[in-house]
Amino acid sequence: MAQREQLYQTAGQVDMSRLPRHIAIIMDGNGRWAKKRGLPRTAGHKVGAETFRKVAKYCKRLGVPYLTVYAFSTENWRRPKEEVDTIMGLLERYLHEAIDSMARENIKLCFLGDLSAIPAPLRALIDKAEAISRELDSPYQANICLNYGGRDEILHAARAIAEAGESFTEENLQRHLYSAAIPDPDLLIRPGGEQRISNFLLWQAAYSEFYFCDTLWPDFDEAALDKAIIAYQSRDRRFGGVK
Ligand code: FPP
Repeated sequence: MAQREQLYQTAGQVDMSRLPRHIAIIMDGNGRWAKKRGLPRTAGHKVGAETFRKVAKYCKRLGVPYLTVYAFSTENWRRPKEEVDTIMGLLERYLHEAIDSMARENIKLCFLGDLSAIPAPLRALIDKAEAISRELDSPYQANICLNYGGRDEILHAARAIAEAGESFTEENLQRHLYSAAIPDPDLLIRPGGEQRISNFLLWQAAYSEFYFCDTLWPDFDEAALDKAIIAYQSRDRRFGGVK
């Protein structure tokens, strides 16, 4: 109850008429969260996957149409095999559940990244979830970045332009990004105490507002998102212009 009151209070400070249209999150701190509790790093990822579910639902409740999270980078393959397998297993489990509940939840799912390296059973689930999403008439969409790297994405788009013989314009490059149909993020959040972009949405974050906090991702909750949105709403966005 106390927790609910706290959520209500912070939600009350969010200006619902000036919500970000797109929030992107680097889900950092799972390993440290687990270590602090004497648990294996993979335990942190398990709770982190639940946090993603909670935050996606809350974005919908608030009325934020797009949420994008960094689940696995092009560099994360360097982690121990057990950890990589756990993350892929969590995504598989999440997708099985999402395929059953997507129509009820009414949140579309989309995957951004080079999916050619993703194990076949997981890819089949991704295809199924994306096919269901295309049939959903919902303004809410959660994007999961998987085997994603900002540099890789820009290179991939540049190669596509060259192969199509198109001219190198911002518009053409944008059309070939994994995120082509998605507006750029207004707010980019990195919990977990680090203050870097780690190859995430390099092109799309050109004018995003950045918000860093020390909360480890498994502890991130509705009140933490409210705080990030309230901070975002205090910023003066000029997009390179003047007032
Ligand atoms: C970064 O924390 C987190 C990851 C590399 C993996 C994130 C993946 C999930 C939360 C599971 C994905 C599942 C769904 C359903 C989206 P870290 O391990 O680098 O933390 P540390 O900095 O404390 O070591």
